[in-house]
Amino acid sequence: MNKNKNFKWGVTISAAQTEGAYDKDGKGFSIWDTFTQKRYKIKDRSNARIATDFYHKYKEDIDCAVDIGLQIFRFSISWARILPEGFGKINSKGIEFYNKVIDYCLEVGIEPWITTYHWDLPQKLQDKGGWCNRDVVDWYATYVAILRDNYADRVKYWILINEGIVCMGAGYFLGVHAPGKRGIDNFLSSVHHILLAQAEGFRVLKEKEGLQVGTALSCTKIEAYRNTNADQKAVNRIDALMNRLFIEPHLGMGYPHEDLPILKRIPKYYKEEDLETLKVDFDFLGIQTYTRQIVKSAWYVPYLGVMQVKPKKRNVETSIMGWETYPEGTQYFLERFSTYNPEKPLWLSECGIALSDKEDDQKRIDYYKKVIDLTKSVMDKGINVKGILLWTLVDNFEWAEGYIPKFGIISLNRNTLQRQMKKSAIWLKKYIKE
Ligand code: BGC
Repeated sequence: MNKNKNFKWGVTISAAQTEGAYDKDGKGFSIWDTFTQKRYKIKDRSNARIATDFYHKYKEDIDCAVDIGLQIFRFSISWARILPEGFGKINSKGIEFYNKVIDYCLEVGIEPWITTYHWDLPQKLQDKGGWCNRDVVDWYATYVAILRDNYADRVKYWILINEGIVCMGAGYFLGVHAPGKRGIDNFLSSVHHILLAQAEGFRVLKEKEGLQVGTALSCTKIEAYRNTNADQKAVNRIDALMNRLFIEPHLGMGYPHEDLPILKRIPKYYKEEDLETLKVDFDFLGIQTYTRQIVKSAWYVPYLGVMQVKPKKRNVETSIMGWETYPEGTQYFLERFSTYNPEKPLWLSECGIALSDKEDDQKRIDYYKKVIDLTKSVMDKGINVKGILLWTLVDNFEWAEGYIPKFGIISLNRNTLQRQMKKSAIWLKKYIKE
C-alpha cells in the first residue's frame, strides 16, 4: 500500500500527553493538571507539566515526522489553552500556538489534522460538573466554533472526540483517569452528554464547506472464556459497551440497551428529541485498537455482570500495559465497521504497542508489519481504508501509567528533552520510501 498513492501514513499525538507548558501563556488548568497533583494516582508519581515539551519543540517533532515520510500530523487542541475558563474569554496566545503548529506543518509539507478533544477538559468546567452537566454540550459547541473560525481555513480533517468510551469509562466510572469520578450515574450522564456534544460539534464544523469530520473510536475485540450461553451474553454486554455505545446512537440506531440493559437508565438524562439530535453522518470513522479481552459471566459484578480473564492467566504475549498484544484486531474492526456503511472511508487513526525501556524495538517493527499485512488484506477485499496513523511519535505521558510504557518510534531523554529515532522509525522511513 506504500505504492498506492492514495494511501496515507501519519502519526497521532495529544496535547495533554506532549505539550507541557501547563501554565504558560495564559493556559488554564485541565482536569489532568489537577488529577496529577494527587501523585499516587500516577504509577511513577509523574505529571505532564513538561511532558515532551511539544509546546517548544513542535518544529523538531514535525520535521522528524516529515523526515520519516509521514504525510499526516494529527494533534489535539488543549481546550484550556484556548479558553482558560472553558468558555468566555479567548486566550489569544493559545490560538497563536496552534496557528504556528498548523502553519509549520503546511510549510514543511505535512497535512495537519485536528482532534478537538483528547481527554483534557478545562478544570473550570469540571468544577461545574464537567461532562455530567448538560451545559457541557453548549460549552463544547462554542469551543468547536472557535476552533473552526480560527483553523478551518487550513485544516480539512477534523476528529471530534477521541475514544469517548475510554475517557468516560476511566474518568467517570472507574475513577482511574481524570477527573477521578466513579459510579453509574456519573458514567451514564457523561456518556449521553459527550455524545450530544459530539453531534453538535459535528454540525458546527459542517457549517463550513469542504471539511471532513469524523470521530475516533476505541475498539477492543471481546471473546468468551467458555463456550456457554452465559459467557456469550457477557461478551454481548461488554461488546455493546466498548464497541457500539459510541457509534450506534450517532447512526440513528439508538443505544444498544438490548444487549447491555444498564443503558436503559440513560433516558433519565434525556430530552425527548435527544435521539434525533444524536444522529450525524460522519464523513469517516477512525478505528483505534490495541488489544483483545476474554470475558466470563460473573453475576456478582455490579451493572455489567462480567469479569475479565486477565491475559497473564491465559499465557498470551502481553505488552508492558498488561494488554494482550493483538494486532489482529485491526483487521477485525476494519471489516466490522465497514459494514455500518461501506461507502464511508475508514482510517486506522491510532495503532501501536507499548514497550519497556529494556525491550528490543524490533517488537514494535514486528507489530507494525503485522498491522500492515492485515490492513492490506482488508483493502484487498475492497474495504475503503485510507491510511494508518501511528500511536505515537515521541515517547510521552501515558496517563495513569506515567512515563513507564513507551509507545513512541522516537525516544525521549526526559532530562535533556533530546529525541532519538528508534529502530522502528528508521525501519518505517525505509518502508514508506520503498
Ligand atoms: C489513546 C492514547 C493513549 C493510547 C495508549 C489511546 O487509547 O488515545 O491517548 O496513550 O491509547 O494507551
